Amino acid sequence: MTGVRLTWPGRHAPEPPQKHGLETLLTVPETRADVGAARLIAGQAIAVLDRLLQEGRAGQVDLVYLDPPFGAGVSWPRRRDVQTADGQATHNVVAYEDPADDLVDWLQHLETVLDRVHRLLSPRGSVYVHLDFRRAPHARLLLDERFGADNLRNEIVWAYGLGGSSKDRFGRKHDVIQFYAKDPRHTYFQAPLQKATSQRMKGQSKRATDVWQTPHQGHDAAITGAWPDSLIDLTLSNSDSQRTGYPTQKPIALLDRIVHASLPPGGLALDPMAGSGTLGVAAVRVGGHVILGDRSEVALDASRGRLVGVGARVQVDALDGALATIKQQGTHVRLADGQATLALPDAQVDALSAWGILDAQGRALAWWDGGDQRTRERVPMTLPLPLRAGKPERLLTIDTAGKWSVGNVGA
Ligand SMILES: C[S@@+](CC[C@H](N)C(=O)[O-])C[C@H]1O[C@@H](n2cnc3c(N)ncnc32)[C@H](O)[C@@H]1O
Repeated sequence: MTGVRLTWPGRHAPEPPQKHGLETLLTVPETRADVGAARLIAGQAIAVLDRLLQEGRAGQVDLVYLDPPFGAGVSWPRRRDVQTADGQATHNVVAYEDPADDLVDWLQHLETVLDRVHRLLSPRGSVYVHLDFRRAPHARLLLDERFGADNLRNEIVWAYGLGGSSKDRFGRKHDVIQFYAKDPRHTYFQAPLQKATSQRMKGQSKRATDVWQTPHQGHDAAITGAWPDSLIDLTLSNSDSQRTGYPTQKPIALLDRIVHASLPPGGLALDPMAGSGTLGVAAVRVGGHVILGDRSEVALDASRGRLVGVGARVQVDALDGALATIKQQGTHVRLADGQATLALPDAQVDALSAWGILDAQGRALAWWDGGDQRTRERVPMTLPLPLRAGKPERLLTIDTAGKWSVGNVGA
């Protein structure tokens, strides 16, 4: 411990965890056996963390990644190009607000989040907190208090190429990721592998101690706390196919690296401010499990779409009535000949992100998901509905603003 304590007007100890009601709204089955499962929880980050404690998950999470708003003073839009009946259209919605003038509230919030994260982490667990120059110094002091200054493993600098230039200062082209271990005696950490060069180990891999293999560019880069994207392919260009249109989406290669290093095989990862769910994609792709939370419907739409897209089983839960569904009037789906056919006006279909038929428990019997991207295809009007799947009860549609509507089928 440093003995140094950050203070601010009205600072108070985090409130004890509260109880929260939860409803499972949707489960989409996996389409790939080698991919882990994802649970999305709609709600405030602290409520999500409290709910996990309520469910008895203290000490069970192996990796937490936090990428909260940075205090940039921006209302961030999500922009998507979608195929429509008449060609193409662009849908813009506000994804989330990132106010610049809320430092005191932000600190109080982060302190409570860290309190919960510390309880949820397993002894082998780690937390990575991703920020930039605006708030990284404050977070560092709070992390020192909660996790112990000696448990800081790295202050990682992710240096990127895009944006950040100015006429009146040097370019701002890096983020800071603080990486703390809960208990250094038990921490899981897998250093990257590199090809052995010695005669004795020829053809084998060994734990890299000083260089990263950089397969993308065919040369090595130093394994330090500095991660320049030029060397390690961490860039997310504007035209990159990973892009979901979600603002502040992080490159998958960045999260792949964190997951590789700190998520044990089959372990559980958590991101309670998940945005487009990049941590989730990285975790399930290596067979890990993930819990993602966000209070933004737009974020949940992006995360769900991406996770369904990589073949994960995806369960969507809502806390305390978050993600309120709109009741659809009338019947907008026809079930016949093993198919579900949408009967909505073109304009409504064009604005869909996902749709499907659910049973009474919210399990998807037929599901189409375009929540990660809509540029490639038009919304299909017809989905196969296997007879053996279960009793169709509801039509669920989710639009490109992340709004959910539910109607009955066959009434
Ligand atoms: C910087 S973005 C995360 C981006 C993400 N890492 C990605 O790769 O897409 C921050 C997210 O935190 C969410 N958020 C901010 N404050 C929150 C809160 N109090 N509770 C839950 N989510 C919150 C926002 O809705 C936003 O999606």
